[in-house]
Amino acid sequence: MSYDSIFENLNSHGQGHLLKYWPDLTEKERAQLLSDLKKIDFAEVNELFRRANDTSKVILEEKVEDLKPIPDSHYEAVPNLSNEKILEYENIGLKEISDGKVGVLLLAGGQATRLGFGHPKGMYDVGLPSRKTLFQIQAERIVRVQQMAAEKYGKEGKITWYIMTSEHTRGPTADYFRSHNYFGLNEEDIVYFEQGTLPCFDFEGKIFLDEKHHVSSAPDGNGGLYRALKSQGVLADIAKRGVEHLHAHSVDNILIKVADPVFIGYCKSKNADCAAKVVQKSTPSEAVGVVCRVNGHYKVVEYSELTDEAAESRTADGRLTFSAGNICNHYFSSQFLTKICNFESKLKLHVAKKKIPYVDHEGIRQKPTEPNGIKMEKFIFDVFEFAENFICLEVARDVEFSALKNNDAAKKDCPSTAREDLLRLHRKYVREAGGIVEDNIDVEISPLLSYGGENLEDLVSGEVFAISPYHLKSMQESTANGNGVNGTNGSNGTH
Ligand code: UTP
Repeated sequence: MSYDSIFENLNSHGQGHLLKYWPDLTEKERAQLLSDLKKIDFAEVNELFRRANDTSKVILEEKVEDLKPIPDSHYEAVPNLSNEKILEYENIGLKEISDGKVGVLLLAGGQATRLGFGHPKGMYDVGLPSRKTLFQIQAERIVRVQQMAAEKYGKEGKITWYIMTSEHTRGPTADYFRSHNYFGLNEEDIVYFEQGTLPCFDFEGKIFLDEKHHVSSAPDGNGGLYRALKSQGVLADIAKRGVEHLHAHSVDNILIKVADPVFIGYCKSKNADCAAKVVQKSTPSEAVGVVCRVNGHYKVVEYSELTDEAAESRTADGRLTFSAGNICNHYFSSQFLTKICNFESKLKLHVAKKKIPYVDHEGIRQKPTEPNGIKMEKFIFDVFEFAENFICLEVARDVEFSALKNNDAAKKDCPSTAREDLLRLHRKYVREAGGIVEDNIDVEISPLLSYGGENLEDLVSGEVFAISPYHLKSMQESTANGNGVNGTNGSNGTH
């Protein structure tokens, strides 16, 4: 395409300003800008901008309509289940893993702007005694749950780990796994794919220039998953490998039970095509979306969309009526994913007002301190309403959810809370297995030793944990790396 035809095309779509600095650019910069521009279908993105604005209006209107909690028939809570029931679900899930029918969809394409970390968030180390990163913890949980499936059913079916990245996270993510030898997983069982991007707009619908020769763009949200699954051949890979159950979750929950057999077993036994794990909302004002029914459809209603009355309403037993807090932790059958990916272009678009760096009228790059434009995003949960059998599984927050969103200055959902939440859970596991540990002692349990508190009795029963930090490891790890944690008190069970 020549400069003239591109110029004409941009002008006809009201985006001619993107070529304003053309005369100032070097040949190389011109080539870069043209390459950016060629990737954009301007008619389509203008239409998306229009639709995204309409969507926000629809959401505002919807909140006054028929809002109901998830019916009991579609809801179970792990803390209320008997041990027998949990074991029954777990065994069903382990059988599916053993048969190679389970995959994990990891959402790792975000920009981690609040955390302010210049690398993919999965590479973050929250300062555990082992210094393991989020990626390593998750990889090792996969190794362990495969082992549990093999112990139970005599066959170690491999879990395929589908990792969604974006243009900025793909290279570093793949390099990271390669340089750590895939943390004990097989290279062929990790499949990276890349989500798309969308241009960033000002409030009037003009696309920003990030630099004179570079159009401003951002990943298209975690709901960009569906488009990417199709366009990057992941659906075909899922079919080829015979994967039937997909556990999808965000990268930043340090307590995530990756490929959770209880969740998989629950969904399989209920014949669900789509499901969400939820935690009880802690207070009416907690900033978390709730899973509920709006006009008969399953949806996540953002906390800002709930009226005060709905947020504060309680059931007869004192629970919040709308208490199913969404934690970006979902189940999809492969059939459901195939169906959804065929009409993903119809999914809702959300508008996020952001501070977007841009090149101003004088050609100077500005970094605004207030939101100056919008990013458009699709959300993974917007497909719930298309499920034929959607169900929820409530899980205990202290066991399964602690998100890493901010830096420590926020004092909330930050590295120190993630670290403390994990260590608190691991102390609990040690106590349940008969170990003696005070609250001020750090004991970390390697995922290679225990996925969810199992397999600890022999190691910790009757042991007193007195001098921090401890890192309880599997036999294999201890042999490979020695017992110590950075030369201190760590051990695989005793000093
Ligand atoms: P968040 O919405 O919390 O975004 O993502 P983030 O990138 O982690 O952090 P901020 O908002 O920039 O500070 C929730 C999950 O969805 C993934 C993230 O990687 C995280 O696991 N995500 C988000 C994507 O995979 N792609 C996106 O476009 C956005």
